[in-house]
This record gives sequence, structure tokens and C-alpha cells, in this order.
Amino acid sequence: MTREQQTRTPLETAVLATLAGITVGEDGPDVVSAGHVAEVVSTGGAIRVLLDPALVATEDGEALAEIMREVVGAVPGVERVIVKPRPQSVTPILAQAPGVVLAVHSGKGGVGKSTLAVNIAAALAHGAAGRPLRVGVLDADVYGPSVPLLLGVSGRAQTTADGSRIAPMAAHGLKVMSLGFLMPEGKPLAWRGSLVSEGLPQLIAEVDWGALDILVVDLPPGTSDVHLALAQAVPIAGVVAVTAPGQISTDDVRRGLEMFADIAVPCLGLIENMSTFVCRSCGTEVALFGDNGGKDLALETGLPLLARIPFLRDVLTASEAGTPLVLAEPAAPFSQTITALARRLADELAPQMKGDTAWTQH
Ligand SMILES: Nc1ncnc2c1ncn2[C@@H]1O[C@H](COP(=O)(O)OP(=O)(O)OP(=O)(O)O)[C@@H](O)[C@H]1O
Ligand SMILES: [Mg+2]
Repeated sequence: MTREQQTRTPLETAVLATLAGITVGEDGPDVVSAGHVAEVVSTGGAIRVLLDPALVATEDGEALAEIMREVVGAVPGVERVIVKPRPQSVTPILAQAPGVVLAVHSGKGGVGKSTLAVNIAAALAHGAAGRPLRVGVLDADVYGPSVPLLLGVSGRAQTTADGSRIAPMAAHGLKVMSLGFLMPEGKPLAWRGSLVSEGLPQLIAEVDWGALDILVVDLPPGTSDVHLALAQAVPIAGVVAVTAPGQISTDDVRRGLEMFADIAVPCLGLIENMSTFVCRSCGTEVALFGDNGGKDLALETGLPLLARIPFLRDVLTASEAGTPLVLAEPAAPFSQTITALARRLADELAPQMKGDTAWTQH
């Protein structure tokens, strides 16, 4: 086990004790003593039993995994069991990022990733964490960069005065970079695709970000090559997953989360966007797409549901005007929700922030 005993939750301890009752073969050692269980992690009522990949490759591996699923599922307090090989983390090309990387992801398109990414970034830059943080926004949506529009910046990125690096754009106190600032308009999509694996690490390394506390990365929809390219480019400190209520959306998010879990990238939680519609004249809140998508997914994955955000016309209008609503109307309930969410994310990421150490390319 890689974690110290004292950091285990009571549920993890109970699950481990139960696993220690499963023996390998008739007189063999138990699965824990045999080293088959690499880690037991509980998040809420969901338990992930992470197996030594060597076991998974053996003939008995699947049979033992099935027994583990069954006995762990019977432990009081366990609501869902995931038995999988221990994730194999990828080693990023850049050992260090310009700031702690927070990626905003969803398996599905159009659920509000970019909108929430820029609002969270803006909130962090403007004091949501109790002090203004130095925040960069990287638009990694190669196929449909929308961050320039949402932040009201356009044009082509310039090189720095000494010509050695690319200067990020500045907007609303954020340093912003998007492939939209670099690519000639009208280039075919295939050309963009070829940029992903080589271009993304370069884009992070060659932009003169300065020292950042957080780099918020807006990912394209799906579980595309871009996600893997990002994980291969820099260490990702955490992912937040955006979902809209409704089965299809949560299924897509679940698939994406599995992909991040498989490469040992932690997911900090879920955000349900467009949860409800608030009537402008009477203030009544109506659940348009069902009630429980985010809640069900949180239960199923064991991840916290960090926020539920209603569908608000003002979010759309502010985006179209190029100013995140959290800045345009800081007192609005939406802005307060985003600020609390941003603070929570910053708290989670704080241990990984390095203070004033300037980011240097290597
Ligand atoms: N809470 C909200 N209330 C109202 N409109 C919203 C809300 N969240 C997002 N939108 C609007 O929904 C549309 C899609 O949002 P956005 O572009 O952020 O989604 P996305 O997930 O990044 O999409 P894509 O998958 O294309 O990258 C935009 O027009 C945006 O203004
Ligand atoms: Mg987007």
C-alpha cells in the first residue's frame, strides 16, 4: 500500500480488512499480504480497489477481481465498487508547468466548459481565494477555440521583445493563450489535429507566462487526443468535469473520468451546469433536463458535486460581450456560486502552488 495507515478512512480500513479475508488458492496468502491490492481509495460511498497490474495479467486475475467486487460490495457503507488495475501515470514532457494545472473537461460538447473555465479563472484572478492569484488560461480546444471570444480578445499573438517566446494576450487580469491567436484562419481541421501532440507542449513551454499560480486549461469535448497530449505535456494537478443533467451527458462524463483515472490524473469534482432554468419574471426554478444527473454521477463516481449552476440568460449575454459574468455582475447569485467554487478549487490546489518561484523553461 502506498499510503500511510493513519490517512485511511474508516471505510477504507474496513474494506482492507475484508479483502484480507480473501485467500489466493486453497492455502495461499490473502490478497492483501500477497501484494495484489495496490491501493484502496474511498470517495463518498464509492470504493476503488486498485490492483497490482501484474495480477491483472494472470489467469486468476479476473476471478479474484470478481470475488473482490462481491465481498467489498457487501461491506456496510459501500455503495459502489470499482476494481481496476492501478493507474499507470504518464511522465510529462515538461516536468514543471508555469502554474498548477487545472483542466476543465467534459465528455460532451456544449455543456459550458469554456464558459465555466473563464469564469473560474476570472474569479481566481480577482480574489476568490482570499487574494488575487496569478492566473493563466490556455484554450486547448484546437478544433473550436472559444476562449478568445468569451474573454473579448482577438488578434494574433506577438513574440516577446527579445523574440524568444510568445507573449500571452492579456484580458480581465488573465494571461490568455489560444491556438486561435496563432493559427491562420481557414486552415483545415486536419492541420489543427496534427498540432496537438507536438504543438501543445510547445505552446505551454514557449509562451511567456511568467510565474502563475494556476493555469486553467479549457479542453475540447470528448476524450480526444488533446486530453492525453495535455497529460503528456505537463503534470495536471486536477480536473473538474462539467456535466449537464441528463443521462447522455453523464455517460459521456463518466467515460472521460475513467480516462483520466487510468492515467492517474485526479478529478477534483463535478459541476452540473444548466441544471435548472430560472424564470426571469417570477423567479421559479424549473429542472429542464431532469433532476439528478450530477447527484447520481457524484454517487456513482464518489466525486463531490462542487456546484449546480442554473441556465441563465445573463451568462450567455456576458459571454457574448466578452466579459465573464463573474466580473460583469459580481453580486449575482451565479457569481457567488462561481466564487465559492473557485475558492474550493484553489484550496484543494494550494498545497501544490509554489509561491513566487518563477516558471522557467527547461
Ligand atoms: N449556465 C449557463 N446559462 C446560460 N448559458 C450558458 C450557461 N453555460 C453555458 N452557456 C452557454 O452555452 C453555450 C455553450 O457553452 P460553452 O461554449 O462554454 O460550452 P462548451 O462545453 O465549452 O462547448 P464546446 O464543447 O463546443 O467547447 C454558450 O453559448 C454559453 O454562453
Ligand atoms: Mg468549449
